Amino acid sequence: MDERASITEIGKEFYQIRSLEKDFHRNIYLKRFIGPDGSIVPMIMDPGTRLDLKFLLPFLQDKIGGMENLKIIFLSHQDPDLTANLSLLMSNAPQSQLVTSIDTWRLVKMYGVPEKRVKTIESFNSNEILVKNTQHRLRFVPARYCHFRGSMMVYDYESRILFSGDLFGGVNTNLEGGIYATEDSWEGISLFHQLYMPSTVALKHTMERISILNPFPEIIAPQHGDIVAGENVYKFLGRLSSLTVGAELVSQADLQKEQALLAINNFFSYLQKNCDQVLKIFHEEFRKGKKIFTPLILINGRAMDLKVSPTVTFQQIIHILNTSPDARPYPNLRSIFLDIIKEAGLEFHWVEDE
Ligand SMILES: [Fe+2]
Ligand SMILES: [Fe+2]
Repeated sequence: MDERASITEIGKEFYQIRSLEKDFHRNIYLKRFIGPDGSIVPMIMDPGTRLDLKFLLPFLQDKIGGMENLKIIFLSHQDPDLTANLSLLMSNAPQSQLVTSIDTWRLVKMYGVPEKRVKTIESFNSNEILVKNTQHRLRFVPARYCHFRGSMMVYDYESRILFSGDLFGGVNTNLEGGIYATEDSWEGISLFHQLYMPSTVALKHTMERISILNPFPEIIAPQHGDIVAGENVYKFLGRLSSLTVGAELVSQADLQKEQALLAINNFFSYLQKNCDQVLKIFHEEFRKGKKIFTPLILINGRAMDLKVSPTVTFQQIIHILNTSPDARPYPNLRSIFLDIIKEAGLEFHWVEDE
């Protein structure tokens, strides 16, 4: 098996290391600030987990002569999928400093990081700083409650890349593959945000903070999922600004959810009568605890509750119909499902890709 992660320079001296998982992966980023005298200040962002070391360490060896030369370790927040290597890196890179929010620091200090090696973002005079020795400009952008109070993003003006942490992250639904987001990626992004982001208000507020960055970012680089570039930056920013997530999703009218559950269960009954083998795919996909991301709760073969919005759930069901080899011989199932949704009195528009 090929054990190499995908490594790409996505902007000037800004590298992405993408782990190998097919359903939900991590992205680690390294930026090399290079001064006029050739001196290099390397900054690693969200340095991943022990699972990533087998490709992270050789990569650091190649790009900066080893992890011991790291200077800045930036953490977007405190979750283990990005902090598990913190102590290892800090103890091997004695010159390195941790840069993170005070809320994140309050928790990651439990890893035993000495206080003198930490610079909290709140301790800077401004959210914009100049990197010592190289004078590159960096801006820290708070992402309050997205998904943690102290979540932070960091904007590298040189490459015009915004590292966004979990924001803009997604489950892998990009059918074309590759590292850049396409229209297909939106499905995984909306699913991930509805499961992880606690508040629609907070999400919208953070999107506004991004939209006023000047110059506007050319690339948004999340900790999971695909790199968002070009016109997708505007497009997905706009969609996330109006996506209902978290607490508001829970309080959304139950009626709509009931209608969606009715439509899904009617569709499952149709499958049971007409193509039982396709129903088995759904039972397998939505079986409790099987997948990290399941949009609905299935009990004894019946959809009992939705974990995300009806729209995102319907998208997931159609995605399975489109991609599962056992469902492909029945291309008319998709239009049958769309008819059932309509009959249940719900608005849902599925736009077929060209
Ligand atoms: Fe997280
Ligand atoms: Fe994460």
